Amino acid sequence: MLFKTNLSRKTLSVRWMMCFSLILPYTVFSQYLENPYTPGQAPDRINLTVTQDPATSQAVTWRTSTAISTAFAEIIPANANPLSVKDAVRLTARTETVASRDDFYKEIKWRGVTANYHSVVFNSLKPNTLYSYRVGSGDHWSEWFQFRTASDKHEKFSFLYFGDAQTGLFSMWSKVIRGAYARMPGVKAMLHAGDLVNRDSNDEEWGEWFAAGSFIHATIPNMPSPGNHDYGRGDFDKDLSPFWRAQFTLPENGPKGLEETCYFSDIQGVRFISLDAYMVEETDEYLEKEKVWMDSVLSHNPNSWTVVVFHHPIFSTKTTRDNKRMRATFKPLFDKYKVDLVLQGHDHTYARGMKNIPMEKKGETSGTMYVVSVSGPKMTDHDVATETWMDKSAVYTQLYQVITVDKNKLEYRAYTSADELFDAFDLVKRKGKNNKLIER
Ligand SMILES: [Fe+2]
Ligand SMILES: [Fe+2]
Repeated sequence: MLFKTNLSRKTLSVRWMMCFSLILPYTVFSQYLENPYTPGQAPDRINLTVTQDPATSQAVTWRTSTAISTAFAEIIPANANPLSVKDAVRLTARTETVASRDDFYKEIKWRGVTANYHSVVFNSLKPNTLYSYRVGSGDHWSEWFQFRTASDKHEKFSFLYFGDAQTGLFSMWSKVIRGAYARMPGVKAMLHAGDLVNRDSNDEEWGEWFAAGSFIHATIPNMPSPGNHDYGRGDFDKDLSPFWRAQFTLPENGPKGLEETCYFSDIQGVRFISLDAYMVEETDEYLEKEKVWMDSVLSHNPNSWTVVVFHHPIFSTKTTRDNKRMRATFKPLFDKYKVDLVLQGHDHTYARGMKNIPMEKKGETSGTMYVVSVSGPKMTDHDVATETWMDKSAVYTQLYQVITVDKNKLEYRAYTSADELFDAFDLVKRKGKNNKLIER
């Protein structure tokens, strides 16, 4: 016996029973009571996403509880007169109900989160024009957000690129997306190279991803490309996150069966292409479909520049990884069509380079710059490759990139979460030749 007491055994057992009767329900139900991301009648997770033509259209998606089955978006060209919003055009949203996939993710903290996702695509917009919009219904409306449509000309603009966010989304990734926005608030798109969250079906993690970006998601269009963590695991390993298509309204111009994961968007002279790398690595069917589609999207491209974003790198930064299927399928196409920039994730370190070694002939350059980056706090320091294809590399560094395209020049700048310029180069386009790389 560990302690002595004057209380009788009967009194003790009654006390223990009282304790359990209070503790047990608390441990079972507290996870629901404490969920900070429970949907309500007011809109949340409001986010813009790229369309095929962001000069004339803009997609927006948001979430509410299932109590809201009909929702609206209102839009008007921005006007300093606050009374002007009474003339806003009202559009009815498309609505779908989504539940997190509880059957597999027994460990998830917030089970049973069911919500309605609403989306609207604003069409027939004027290029390079500032618009005000809000979303909601009844007595529950968002604030009026503002976004500027892309120009319909090949004019100078910037965009952001984020490698894996994945973990510590609210605590540690928030400073990266906020730092990027503070540095460059006028960007036309935010590219995400996969593994946006760690567990695709975990509502809390998606809640953190949206909370980290807050109003930025409702102001700058997202262009997300899925990673392996945005797909399920085990019996669900070919299933895209149930949240993905509901919460991101993306162009459906990709191969059949890969809508909104494999797609393209044309912005001011740049063709942005998202590949679904996970499905290339996992299935022969989609490898072939994406290959055929990619050839067509690259061969019919009226833009001056081409940027491709996906998750599994053509050249890995880890000695234990080698995405042969991605490299064998797409590198010949990137070479053939002189793709300018390839933005990737997955390895949780940083590297970039133009030389295609050791897999290709030494010293050969195709003019395509390959980048692997990481924006969230999950890092790796084992089996890190140091092959000579890398012009620059790093570990344990949270980064974001600001990339600016101006006529025949592309300026790439990588910043750390501590607001330091970490890496910089320019690519200069030359007629009939590979791009010229200028280190900065
Ligand atoms: Fe990752
Ligand atoms: Fe990954």
